[in-house]
Amino acid sequence: MMRKKIPCISAVLLIIASSAQAAHEPRVDDAGDPPEYTVNCPEEATNASQCEVDKGTYVGWRTFATNCQVCHGGSALGSTFAPNLLERFNKEGVDYGRFLYVVEHGYHGKMGAMPAWEKNVAVMKARDDLYRYLKARADGKLPQGRPKRMKK
Ligand code: HEC
Repeated sequence: MMRKKIPCISAVLLIIASSAQAAHEPRVDDAGDPPEYTVNCPEEATNASQCEVDKGTYVGWRTFATNCQVCHGGSALGSTFAPNLLERFNKEGVDYGRFLYVVEHGYHGKMGAMPAWEKNVAVMKARDDLYRYLKARADGKLPQGRPKRMKK
């Protein structure tokens, strides 16, 4: 009796798993609340140089430019061999828990290999700041370019 139902259930699971919003796996499940960012841009800003960001978001920008941009493109807009991370955040459900996991451990996906950063102390320490910067970009709050750091 149970057997007959299994094909049905797995068909439903397949549909859920292939939906674009499905959370990427594996992930850090007890990641807690995602870190927040502060961005002040004039309304008509088209470049981050017109904006001021908190220290963490600035460190995130710097760390991204040093370590990630070579593959993910300037301001995370993607290249031929690594994805646009704004789209991964907004259209493919990459959230804080997945982000933390991926940066530490890396993974092989359909597009290629995302390296693991667990041995890179600077990147590991800046994971929250990288998230702040990328989330601000993905939320459309920070245009491309180099932001200014807020004065205290
Ligand atoms: C050597 C090239 C390379 C570098 C450097 C690199 N990445 Fe990636 N990254 C990739 C590739 C390729 C993928 C896509 C893999 C796939 O899905 O096929 C990826 C995917 C990702 C994803 C998406 C995860 C998901 O579940 O879709 C995130 C987030 C990410 N990288 C963050 C970073 C950050 C942050 C850095 C810098 C610390 C970085 N990457 C540096 C190549 C790179």
